[in-house]
Amino acid sequence: MLRTTVNDCKIIDIRKYTDNRGYLSVIEGGIDIPFEIKRIYYLYMVPEAARGAHAHKHLQQLLVATSGSVDITLDDGTNKKTFHLDRPWKGLLVVPGLWRDLDNFSGGTVLLCLASEHYETNDYIRDYDKFIKYRKG
Ligand code: TYD
Repeated sequence: MLRTTVNDCKIIDIRKYTDNRGYLSVIEGGIDIPFEIKRIYYLYMVPEAARGAHAHKHLQQLLVATSGSVDITLDDGTNKKTFHLDRPWKGLLVVPGLWRDLDNFSGGTVLLCLASEHYETNDYIRDYDKFIKYRKG
C-alpha cells in the first residue's frame, strides 16, 4: 500500500537573489529540492480547460508558476489539498502516488515543471478508479 499523502507535499521558497537589476531565482537538483532533475517541461497558453487529471507512480516534481497563477489540487485517495501558485519564487513539491488536477490558470500563466524522471508513459495513471485501486495496493 502506498503511504505518501497530500501532507507530504509543500510549498517551498525558492532561493532568490535581488538587487537593482531585479530578481534571479535558482533551483539546484539535490540541493534545493530532494531529487536530481532529469526533465523540464512547461505549460503555457492554457485555455479555460483544466489539465492534469492523472497520477504518477514514481515521479517527483517541483511545480512553479513562473508567471501568472494556477490552483493545483492533490489527492491521495483519502484527503485532498489545494495549493495556489502565484509567485515565481514559490514551488510546490509533489511526492509520488498522488492524483493531481490543475485549474484556474490565469491568463498568461507559465507553469514550469522540474521532474525527477524522464518521460515514461507507464508511470502515469489516468483513470481515477484505477488510481484508487493502486493506492489500496
Ligand atoms: P499530458 O501528459 O497529456 O499533459 P498533462 O500533464 O496536462 O496531462 O501531455 C501532453 C502531450 O505531451 C502528450 O502527447 C505527451 C507529451 N509529453 C511528452 O512527450 N513528454 C513529456 O515530458 C510530457 C510531460 C508530455
